[in-house]
Order: sequence, then C-alpha cells, then structure tokens
Amino acid sequence: MATGKRIVLASRPQGAPTLDNFRVETFDLPEIKEGEVGLRVIYLSLDPYMRGRMSDAKSYAAPVPVDGTMEGETIGEVTHSRHSDFKPGDMVRGRTGWCTDAVIKGDAIRHFDTHGAPLTSALGALGMPGFTAYAGMKVIGQPQEGNTVVVAAASGPVGSMVGQLARLAGARAVGIAGGADKCAYVRDELGFDAVVDHRSGTFADDLRLACPDGIDVYFENVGGHVWDAVLPLLNPYARVPVCGLVATYNGENAAGHDRLAGTMSAILRRSLRVRGFIQSEFVGEHYADFQTKIGPLVASGKIRYREDIVDGLDNAPEAFIGMLKGRNFGKLLVRVKEL
Ligand SMILES: NC(=O)c1ccc[n+]([C@@H]2O[C@H](COP(=O)([O-])OP(=O)(O)OC[C@H]3O[C@@H](n4cnc5c(N)ncnc54)[C@H](OP(=O)(O)O)[C@@H]3O)[C@@H](O)[C@H]2O)c1
Repeated sequence: MATGKRIVLASRPQGAPTLDNFRVETFDLPEIKEGEVGLRVIYLSLDPYMRGRMSDAKSYAAPVPVDGTMEGETIGEVTHSRHSDFKPGDMVRGRTGWCTDAVIKGDAIRHFDTHGAPLTSALGALGMPGFTAYAGMKVIGQPQEGNTVVVAAASGPVGSMVGQLARLAGARAVGIAGGADKCAYVRDELGFDAVVDHRSGTFADDLRLACPDGIDVYFENVGGHVWDAVLPLLNPYARVPVCGLVATYNGENAAGHDRLAGTMSAILRRSLRVRGFIQSEFVGEHYADFQTKIGPLVASGKIRYREDIVDGLDNAPEAFIGMLKGRNFGKLLVRVKEL
C-alpha cells in the first residue's frame, strides 16, 4: 500500500507554539474512490491563521482536532484521477493540509491560472493573501488619491499587496516592517513612499514623522504596539480594515494593556470606520475581478512580491513558529516535493 507523510497537531500550544506541539507521521493512502483524485503535494502555504486552528477557543472556523492533520492550502500534481475534470499531470490548488500525498474529492480542488507568473504565486500574491489585500482595500479601505495608507507586516504577502494597491490608487503608501532588511525591501523594491521599523525604540515618533498629514487608511495586520502608534494619527473618517492581529495570536499583547477605552474613544470622536473581515466573505463578489485585474499586473512585474521557501515537510513546524516571530521574509512556503 502507498504511504505518505503528514504533520499532525500533537497538543494545543499554551502561548507560542513549540516543536512538541507537532508530530510527523507516516500514513497509508486510502484507495481512490469514484469522484476522487490522488495528489503529490508540491508546495504548502504557511499562514498566520493556522495558529488560530491550533487553539480550541471559539472562532470563525473549527479547530484542528488533537492528532488531526494540520490544515493548510497546497499546490499539488494530480497522479491518479477518478474525476472527469482532472487528469494525471494537472496542477491544482486545494486544502490537503500539511502532508506529502493526499487523496481528495475532485470537488474540493481547483485548477488555477497565474497568467504566466510562477506557480507559487497561486498561494501568495495571486492566492488567498493577495486576495485578502485586494478585497479589504476595495470594500473597506477604499483609498483615494492623495490619501495616506499605512500597513504593517509590509514585506509579507498581504501587506506588500496592500501598499502597492494603495500606490496604484494614487495614495501614499507607508509600510511598517521589522528590521533594516525588510524595511529596505519595502521602500526600494516594493516602492512604498516611506517605511518605519517597528522594532526601533523611536517607532511611534518615526511613524508620526512618516505621516505628516495623518492616516486615512490603516490596514490592520498586527495589533499590539503597532496599533498604539497608529491610533493617535488616524484622521477623522479614517477607514480601518481589520484583517489580522498577528502580534496577539500567541496570547501575548492581548491582556495586561487594555486598549479598549482609548480605541472606542477615538472611533467615537473621529468617526472612524473600523470593520473586521475574513476574506472568504468577499470571494463570491470579488474573486473573479481580482484574478482578472491583478493577475496580469503580478505576471508583468508591475506588482512585486517576495517568497521565503523552506525545503521539506519536516521543516514546516519550525518555519511556522518563526513566522509568528517575524522570521519569515516574504510569503512563507514549504517545498514539499520537487516538481
Ligand atoms: N482576514 C483574513 O481573511 C486574512 C487572510 C490572510 C491573512 N490575514 C492576516 O493578515 C496578516 C498578515 O498575513 P501574512 O500572511 O501577510 O503574514 P506575513 O507578513 O507573511 O507574516 C507575519 C508577519 O507579521 C509580523 N509580525 C509577527 N509578529 C509581530 C509582532 N509581534 N509585532 C509586529 N509584527 C509582527 C512579521 O513581520 P515584521 O517582521 O515585518 O514585523 C511577520 O513576518 C496576519 O495577521 C494574518 O492573520 C487575514
């Protein structure tokens, strides 16, 4: 019987995940039934939301059960097919989880088009993170010409797209990133108008100087001390798409410093529009437009992105743990098998 390798959730983390929370297992691949396909997984996407799936706290999606395969989206090559839409050799995208091989219902996978951009872009700039930026900006951020748009985690797949979309709309893009290398990349390669290092002791002052006209759109990816620096700079009627709060996912920054009164007061006094969202809410209405408009811009290099590719499924836990501390530099992917 053919076997595959997978990574399961061994235990739920308390605070930051550790390697002990994961376990590598070999498993028997089931027989492929009518309507199913067999896949060899080529790339696995590692994303911050996976920290939420490791916890059993109530959320918008069900947790991964203990001993269950870690959830995740992958690109795979069809090896066997008993579904009329797929044939061996097809490259598809689906939620197989953290594994080397999978048997999956054909209805749960999709062909994809990168418009000539590299395959991996289907998990980043032209995949879920890129779409998150696109939908959050279009529906909630609504940048206008001359606005100042601020985004943190600016070198990552969501933040890098947010800033470049802001510039395409004629706005001024100010990035926040951790460390000199990421800041240089955001300014020099991505073309943001200004960038501020949130690890600097003068971060709040640096941000104020980088935003002399205040902030009209703050695309929230981080929370914590970044929110503290942003809040006083938000202009009346500023829009705040609340996309993620990665600084709080490990339970740090969440308690101890109560931001509620200051935040609510600013929302009231400055008529802020703060709106949380999960990208799946906007797929039906906006995904096709995203592909048509953004695909060619990514393929032509007008919209740029960076990837951080780790080799081998066994290295996924360490890479994932590092991402929650800002150790990734660009869209984090695992090369599970050679193409
Ligand atoms: N709402 C949705 O549907 C949706 C969909 C996709 C993603 N998201 C969210 O969007 C955000 C960005 O996702 P991504 O995939 O683009 O991630 P990413 O940028 O590839 O990785 C996360 C980055 O967050 C920054 N970070 C981590 N801990 C931090 C801390 N304590 N303080 C400040 N910055 C910290 C680090 O960048 P620096 O080193 O530059 O600080 C790190 O590289 C996340 O919050 C994610 O959960 C939401």
